Amino acid sequence: MSAPAAINGKEIFDLLREDLVAIEDEFGRDTISNVQAITEIGAYLRAGGGKRIRPALLLLAAKLFDYQGHGAVRLGAVVEIIHTATLVHDDIIDEAKTRRGRAAANTQWGNSKCVLAGDWLYMQAFKIAVEERNFRILDTLIELTQKMVEGELLQMEKLGRFITLQEHFDLIYRKTACLFSVCMRLGAILGGATAEQEAALGRYGHDLGMAFQIVDDVLDLTASEEILGKPVASDLREGKVTMSVIHTLERCTASERTKIETILRERSFNGVTHAHILEILQRYGSLEAATARAAQYAESAQRSICTFSDSEIKRALLWAPEFVVAREK
Ligand code: IPE
Ligand code: IPE
Ligand code: MG
Ligand code: MG
Repeated sequence: MSAPAAINGKEIFDLLREDLVAIEDEFGRDTISNVQAITEIGAYLRAGGGKRIRPALLLLAAKLFDYQGHGAVRLGAVVEIIHTATLVHDDIIDEAKTRRGRAAANTQWGNSKCVLAGDWLYMQAFKIAVEERNFRILDTLIELTQKMVEGELLQMEKLGRFITLQEHFDLIYRKTACLFSVCMRLGAILGGATAEQEAALGRYGHDLGMAFQIVDDVLDLTASEEILGKPVASDLREGKVTMSVIHTLERCTASERTKIETILRERSFNGVTHAHILEILQRYGSLEAATARAAQYAESAQRSICTFSDSEIKRALLWAPEFVVAREK
């Protein structure tokens, strides 16, 4: 028997194109308010683009069960709106100036308006989700949103401190992997999956999300702002210790440790350059170690769906972890 043909990013995009366009329309309709600031901020955020990876995952999960209803488009918009709301709040918290290659909303409208716009977006997402008339979906989304908020809060409490890998993984689960997992489970619920199938897809989303955030944190150290569309080397400046830094801290000398400590404490690269930190991380193979961990999570995601029979959709789900690990932005 010959191996099933692989599928590439363009083919997957073609497969989802119609639904992704419908999600954009839904998002556009959903972010209109009588209050102009909300409509303006909503339009600005939507126009900023983004990879739309979360709604794409939800669509793929639903399509795996040949789901035909409108719910996947609706919930696709819901997860993207929740993601957008967390980004608006996150950029305020992190005092970020750019997002998706342009000025972050907080620099255009100020923090106060953006906090409120973020709150409004959360509620709008729930208003749309209620249209499904499904308490399990609502439960899942409420638990998710609380976990994400808790994640941001826990991260804040740990800022400037050395944390363990375990603490770090708990944070990135809450910040990122939880939403990826929920996207997959929502698609499964719509598609009428069995409990085992839903759990398998949830594990897939979890592992993919972990890989995604580990890679995001490596890119923060290695990529350029032009490509990434958001500030680089920002995690250390924000007092955040990520996986490759934890890997180095477990191995480096006292003086190297002090250098990292200084950036975390002063929240700036005073006296120590970004290039110098990269050099230290490279000395201990820490960027590679983090990338290798991301690749392990990606493979684990692929294994989670091994029991589903071969289809174009399954092949798309097998492709996504490879994309996440290889991505440059
Ligand atoms: C950014 O997510 C926040 C993280 C979880 C790192 P994405 O990288 O998916 O952001 P967009 O939506 O493509 O801009
Ligand atoms: C993103 O966290 C916010 C959430 C996933 C809730 P980060 O602060 O690490 O992500 P970027 O780097 O701003 O996108
Ligand atoms: Mg941030
Ligand atoms: Mg980050």
